[in-house]
Amino acid sequence: MDKNALVVKNLKGYYRGTFGVVHAVDGVSLKVDEGERVGIAGESGCGKSSFAQLITGTTTPLLHYEGGQVKVYGYDIWKISPEKMRKEVKCKLMSYVPQAMLNSLNPTKRVREFIADMMRERTGRKYSIDEVREMAIEHFERLGLDGYVLDVYPHELSGGMAQRVITAISTLGSPKLLITDEPTSALDVTSQKRMIKLMIDIQREGIIKSLICISHDLAALNQLCDRIVIMYAGVFVEDGRVDEVINNPFHPYTRMLMDSLLPLEPETKDKELSSISGVVPDLRNPPPGCRFHPRCDQCMEICTRKEPPEVEKDGRIVKCWLYTKIGEKGKRVKRHLERR
Ligand SMILES: Nc1ncnc2c1ncn2[C@@H]1O[C@H](COP(=O)(O)OP(=O)(O)O)[C@@H](O)[C@H]1O
Ligand code: SF4
Ligand SMILES: [Mg+2]
Repeated sequence: MDKNALVVKNLKGYYRGTFGVVHAVDGVSLKVDEGERVGIAGESGCGKSSFAQLITGTTTPLLHYEGGQVKVYGYDIWKISPEKMRKEVKCKLMSYVPQAMLNSLNPTKRVREFIADMMRERTGRKYSIDEVREMAIEHFERLGLDGYVLDVYPHELSGGMAQRVITAISTLGSPKLLITDEPTSALDVTSQKRMIKLMIDIQREGIIKSLICISHDLAALNQLCDRIVIMYAGVFVEDGRVDEVINNPFHPYTRMLMDSLLPLEPETKDKELSSISGVVPDLRNPPPGCRFHPRCDQCMEICTRKEPPEVEKDGRIVKCWLYTKIGEKGKRVKRHLERR
């Protein structure tokens, strides 16, 4: 079996409908080694959830896989049969908790019935309540969840508890790779902390080996992940160790994102909190060249017409012309960017 948990190469996925073609994921590559906890961050609408759907082969009706490769432990997700996917990949190698999964839980079913349905779908046979209880209780307790939650309805759980229950259910089969989309975003600060601890515990306990956590919450990713990938307008622009990227961002977009989000130092608290100039591009018609160029204060002439390559710098990957030979002497485009 391939030792890489995930290998993504030049992956593309577009929404197609009467609204046109939305280039939500437009040529991204990523490698996740076994044991890593990787965060995917970026502003709302940059393509994070679409990316999660594409790497798990669970696209919603309008999102179409348009090309590229996704391999989970060597299984080519867009090439293998649905049966192979169900029997060999889902839940064993990879489990996916979509954004707002809580809202999609059937309100008329207790947690144990939900697990029974999931097990039947996975194995093709029926599970009794006792079997479900026996199978789940140890796992739930190992994760600090009392066994009583198996007998309650989703609406009886608080938001934080429900999110932890969903995570526990999703890791029942000890999937090697867990992919979770915005697991902390709807939670209060205390529940967020518990959720982060749970995800760390799941890996420490050896229930999962690797984690991909998608979130617009950089503070949560900073606590949870060892590596972070920054996404902008359908592409990955920076990929590196989380502390290095947050403390010393290379890509102009990452820098602006950090400036706008990180708390102000006491001595600067009277200064205006900077916000990112310009607006997120319409992905039906993304800007040519570097997608960030209309908002970039370091934009060069080449950036307006040619897509930047992915460059390796100090152990990081940066998609920006500044870090190429051209960037060293490239002419800056003069512009007056308006604050949003
Ligand atoms: N069902 C849909 N139909 C059309 N466009 C969509 C749909 N869902 C998302 N999009 C568009 O795809 C882009 C990426 O969305 P998404 O992956 O949800 O971003 P994120 O998770 O980063 O907020 C956005 O421009 C969004 O408007
Ligand atoms: S490629 Fe050019 S426009 Fe894009 S982020 Fe780098 S400097 Fe800015
Ligand atoms: Mg999303």
